[in-house]
Amino acid sequence: MDRDKKRGLFITFEGIDGAGTTTQAALLHETLEATFDKCLLTREPSDGPVGMLIRQILSGRLLGSVAKGDATPFDRRSLALLFAADRIDHLASEVLPAIRQGIQVVSDRYLLSSLAYQSLDSDETWVLEINKNAPRPDITILLEVQVDEALGRLAACRSNIDIFEKKQILEKVAANYKRFTSKVGGMVKIVNGQGTVEQVRRAVWNAISPLLSNKKLGAGS
Ligand code: TYD
Repeated sequence: MDRDKKRGLFITFEGIDGAGTTTQAALLHETLEATFDKCLLTREPSDGPVGMLIRQILSGRLLGSVAKGDATPFDRRSLALLFAADRIDHLASEVLPAIRQGIQVVSDRYLLSSLAYQSLDSDETWVLEINKNAPRPDITILLEVQVDEALGRLAACRSNIDIFEKKQILEKVAANYKRFTSKVGGMVKIVNGQGTVEQVRRAVWNAISPLLSNKKLGAGS
């Protein structure tokens, strides 16, 4: 992203399922709202039409043939393209207009998720290629948690488990996150996500606050 003092910051949260991205994105949004007039909390898959389709695919609801006993897995390259399409639409309809108006944007997941998850089944160069027009966030917070801890959290709060939420898969996703952190470009800060919600919130704030020093600063500590 270009550095213009009047525009808002684009902050993204990443991590394996159960890492706490949704919780911490919401808490950071709350903190920023106390400091700035406006702040947008958003997510990927987005709440736009492509994002809604993706959520149905992930939860298995679009595998219509399951009922007939011949479940055909949704093609993973098609899914990778849907994530990239959702991202373009999300950027154009929500993220970029907000940033241009000086609004701080916090997104629960973004580009690094595509690299970590879609390169499980698709060539990583191709995944990068289909996402090449996605601008890098000002900062990405990567929440690191052990896979067993993440699975425990998911089991405690979910009635249905998404297609990516299996132990071996999450281990590969965690390794991909490590690998792509240095490759993706833009600033990525790794934050230990194993502590209490409040401890992680403070660690996130410590990572974000230097970027806010040329804006209105003061909340969160
Ligand atoms: P998640 O963010 O956990 O949302 P919810 O809390 O509603 O389940 O789920 C989104 C899933 O989508 C998660 O498993 C990661 C995956 N994902 C990708 O595979 N690629 C992407 O580009 C994005 C944004 C998400």
